[in-house]
Amino acid sequence: MHWWQTGIIYQIYPRSFQDSNADGVGDLNGIIRRLDYLKSLNIDAVWISPIFPSPMHDFGYDVADYCDIHPLFGTLADFDRLLAEAHARGLKIILDLVPNHTSWDHPWFVESRSSRDNPKRDYYLWRDPAPGDGPPETRLPNNWQTHFGGDAWTYDAHTGQFYMHQFHRSQPELNYRHPEVLPAMLDNMRFWLDRGVDGFRVDVIWLMLKDEQFRDEPPNPHAAPDARPFDRIEHIYTASVEGIHDIIRQMRGVLDEYDERMMVGEIYLPVEQLVTYYGDGDECHMPFNFQLIQLPWDARVIGDYIRRYEGALPPDGWPNWVLGNHDQHRIATRVGQAQARVAQMLLLTLRGTPTSYYGDEIGMEDVPIPFEQCMDPAALQQPELFELWGRDPERTPMQWDDSPNAGFTVPEATPWLPLAADYRTRNVAAQENDPASMLNLYRALAALRRAEPALNRGDYEEVDLGQPDLLAYRRTWPGSDGFLVILNFGSVEHRLDLRAVLNESGGEVALSTNPERIHGDDIDAFHVAPKEGVVWRSNGR
Ligand code: GLC
Repeated sequence: MHWWQTGIIYQIYPRSFQDSNADGVGDLNGIIRRLDYLKSLNIDAVWISPIFPSPMHDFGYDVADYCDIHPLFGTLADFDRLLAEAHARGLKIILDLVPNHTSWDHPWFVESRSSRDNPKRDYYLWRDPAPGDGPPETRLPNNWQTHFGGDAWTYDAHTGQFYMHQFHRSQPELNYRHPEVLPAMLDNMRFWLDRGVDGFRVDVIWLMLKDEQFRDEPPNPHAAPDARPFDRIEHIYTASVEGIHDIIRQMRGVLDEYDERMMVGEIYLPVEQLVTYYGDGDECHMPFNFQLIQLPWDARVIGDYIRRYEGALPPDGWPNWVLGNHDQHRIATRVGQAQARVAQMLLLTLRGTPTSYYGDEIGMEDVPIPFEQCMDPAALQQPELFELWGRDPERTPMQWDDSPNAGFTVPEATPWLPLAADYRTRNVAAQENDPASMLNLYRALAALRRAEPALNRGDYEEVDLGQPDLLAYRRTWPGSDGFLVILNFGSVEHRLDLRAVLNESGGEVALSTNPERIHGDDIDAFHVAPKEGVVWRSNGR
């Protein structure tokens, strides 16, 4: 087994984790200061969202230099120190690689847009205006749309052509059909691998290749009548385009030049297509599985999905699960505080690598941010979808303590996004000393997972307890204790006869999400409280 299989990944959104220089934005020295905290969570790897030079139109997902550190976050020397200090504590560091697009400030794009005959012109996707009447800037090359809302083409008056972008106009997309582009990106990967990073989370990896003929995308027959233009077409020429797997294999080849490095691909696709990104064990080590974010919080729906996902995985495809990230509303807001505990128990007891989002371990919630204070380009571009789409609410500063600015930055500074109204009560310091806190539940679950082979590598078997609001499963590993996990997604108490399920083997409750659990361990009348999750340890099996 590899570290990225048995371990837990923890995502840091670096602007919001810990500021060390009083500018209201988190930085690398801030992360270094919090490494002991990270270690105390019993996580194994830290994925840091982009920290590279960038004009920050998409907060770092618009990279202007792949081989340096943005001064806001620190220097290369700070990064080397972070890596050394993390490694000294047994923590791995995963960087965010954004190969699909660069910033419009990247020297390649500056050259590319300078003239039609610049040698780097075709590093990007340039097209003439469509034939017809009317000003050239209105004659779009095709009907492609951006994920952030709006046409995927921006007209450049200087050279009289459009360039293509599926996100913000400041994020022009690279042309992976140009023979120099992929080798250059592979060298960017080597730059960090040589420094010692343990892997990459690869941004929108399934979008990296586009249709060679730039054909219009067909109408989506399933679109709702009021769907936004992006959802009214089927993305068959901008996503999962033939040839993409070959690009990913070459990226994997670079990782395989080193020991024990990994890549996890950001891919939003239905499960049957998602699993093709494992390749024959020669593509992504893991394509992110986002279904716990996308599915309704319903025991049957999630149970069905686990079965479908487990069934779809290729023979050596290692599963993974994600509860939240910097693009999605926080789990505690989606399902409430009590179910957020159940969700952590689910995440940390399923078969496959868990990815946690910073702050979810203390139950941080989305912070409502008025449109006037909105920072996120995806929301600014679609004001009518601001509530639904705005990503600022899940990116607010980490709540460390009850001091002004929550210990995220000094009291005199202004954090780049507002703090949660409840930070004086919901923070790390308050939860440290409370045995019943979400933080201590997270630590206990992560510690149990680390200690128990059944949980960190064992088999998964679903268990039907005959109650639609209970999700139950068994985790086993030969020669080790087995575990029965029972999660109550509902609001009524259950009294269960577990004798048939547990086969009379001895055991006890190892953990409950309910700190006040008073019920004993009677297996013929086993109580599961409303919104409670329980991990039962079966001795020796
Ligand atoms: C990914 C990132 C998101 C970013 C987009 C464009 O989806 O997670 O934050 O805006 O790609 O890079």
